[in-house]
Amino acid sequence: MADLTEKIISLTKRRGFVYPNSEIYGGIQGFYDYGPLGVEMKNNLKRLWWDWMTKSHEDVVGIDGAIITHPTVWEASGHVQSFTDPLAECKNCHKRWKADDLDGDKCPNCGGDLLESKPFNIMVETTLGVVEGEKKVAYLRGEACQTIYLDYQNVLDSMRVKLPFGIVQIGKAFRNEITPKNFLFRQREFEQWDLQWFTKPQEMEKWFEFWKGERMSWYGELFNHPEKLRFKEHDELAHYAKKAFDIQYESPFGWKEMEGIHWRGDWDLSRHGKFSGKDMNYTDPQTGEKFIPNIVETSGGVDRCFFFLLLDAYTEEDKRVVLKLHPKLSPVKVAVFPLLANKPDLVDKAQEIYKSLKSRAGFATVFDGRGNIGKRYLAQDEIGTPWCVTVDFDTLKNNTVTIRDRDTTQQERISVDSLSSYLADKLRQ
Ligand code: GAP
Repeated sequence: MADLTEKIISLTKRRGFVYPNSEIYGGIQGFYDYGPLGVEMKNNLKRLWWDWMTKSHEDVVGIDGAIITHPTVWEASGHVQSFTDPLAECKNCHKRWKADDLDGDKCPNCGGDLLESKPFNIMVETTLGVVEGEKKVAYLRGEACQTIYLDYQNVLDSMRVKLPFGIVQIGKAFRNEITPKNFLFRQREFEQWDLQWFTKPQEMEKWFEFWKGERMSWYGELFNHPEKLRFKEHDELAHYAKKAFDIQYESPFGWKEMEGIHWRGDWDLSRHGKFSGKDMNYTDPQTGEKFIPNIVETSGGVDRCFFFLLLDAYTEEDKRVVLKLHPKLSPVKVAVFPLLANKPDLVDKAQEIYKSLKSRAGFATVFDGRGNIGKRYLAQDEIGTPWCVTVDFDTLKNNTVTIRDRDTTQQERISVDSLSSYLADKLRQ
């Protein structure tokens, strides 16, 4: 189903989820913007992750670090030296390819011979300073997590946490990808959600397994098809990792990484200790023993997850397209319709219910009085709205409405007064 990706690209643009960046200038490869519905869904997704990390687990605190850091950070982290992808250039048309993506030894563009591949550093550089000639090279962070290591000591001092504990962050990362592709899957600017779990070295195995299981079960709750999720152990390890598993999703373009669970050990804190000259040791309050904490990392791509959730939710049935998103993720929770748009009594009552659900109860609510009721249902199905409320002539008599379920299309009649608690209950499930 390779064209599923095309369907998602088209739907997300048409319905205000995702737009190509700088489209009026012909676009720029590897950059996308989230539209009004996309940003709501993405915020819902990030809020779920954040709350699950910080509220469903003990001893996890969050930070929000800067995108640019001291340039030495990236020497210490190993990125300046080792954050590379193999690049193969065509001898004939000079197009450049990520060697890992090539099927054979010929250029996919012109069929020409390829030069031997060379490592290409994918860090994105910028310059800082105001005097030409004295500007300094800095990097947009290649992985968001480095800021967590830089703030580790500050968190220890200010939050009185004790090992084991975690620091989480959701933030942008930048990579000069040789071939951005597959929509949001491989971009040059993207968002990561990271947990860095600091622990005693002898407890690494236990926590590695714990977080591996936790992350898979979290994804399993959100995806309709958990059978499309699997673990894959890394054959080749990143420069910082001693052991690593990916959580992969079976996309139309193959099993692809969505999140990495990495055994980072003491690599990061030791390196930052060495390069900064600062003591990164932790002192055990009970024993007085000093050591560098070891780290289990869970690092996922927010945009990849967002994209995979759309692929997972997209359903065509009975001449309708439905995004069967988990209701907690849906950008709009409830749509309110007057049965007929030319009956002022119905429109006024529907407006009253719409305003009360939106402003008083705080649900993401829309009002739609255009076209016929069937078309309004279809429009809401396509953006994943779980419930549609219709105000009809009975509403004016007995203050009840119909509420239609997106997935079953079944309708039930409930009193207007119980609408808020009905929706709140459903959203808690
Ligand atoms: N701190 C560890 C780290 O950055 P990674 O496996 O390179 O590890 C973590 O990246 C996650 O970030 C990946 O699992 C993926 O979901 C996401 N990611 C990486 N490169 C990406 C890109 N070019 N576009 C979108 N998401 C990306």
